[in-house]
Amino acid sequence: MNKEEKYREILPEIESLIQNESDLTANLANIGSVLHFAFNHHWTGFYLVRNSELVLGPFQGPVACTRIGYGKGVCGKAWEEKKVQLVGNVHLFEGHIACSPHSKSEIVIPLINNNNIWGVLDIDSIEPDYFDETDALYLDKICSLIKNL
Ligand code: SME
Repeated sequence: MNKEEKYREILPEIESLIQNESDLTANLANIGSVLHFAFNHHWTGFYLVRNSELVLGPFQGPVACTRIGYGKGVCGKAWEEKKVQLVGNVHLFEGHIACSPHSKSEIVIPLINNNNIWGVLDIDSIEPDYFDETDALYLDKICSLIKNL
């Protein structure tokens, strides 16, 4: 199965997992799990805006740093720019925060409701250049399903 086929398979699964559940933590935990195990990622998780920082939320993978400042690292940059960050080689990204020595590439998707950014989805791969526009497209679709009311 190629990447696009996998995303097409998990999209309805994610929709049905969250449609009858209003608890944000429960939904983030299940979405992270589906993504992590469908693609066998190194690290998959959420950072949530708490005052002036991003704070670690539900995740799958090795222990990660708990707080990231505005504009710091790939996650903080996604927050500041309100834009997807596609990083083919984390070592070339100025200010990258290395939570794991095994991460080689990374994608970060902002979580936005009503023009308000309330967190990010962060995924790390041990393969360089793992993520591409297909990931950006489908992860953005998945993130737009998550309501933080
Ligand atoms: N690499 C991220 C930090 C979070 S970990 O990858 C889980 C960053 O630069 O923001």
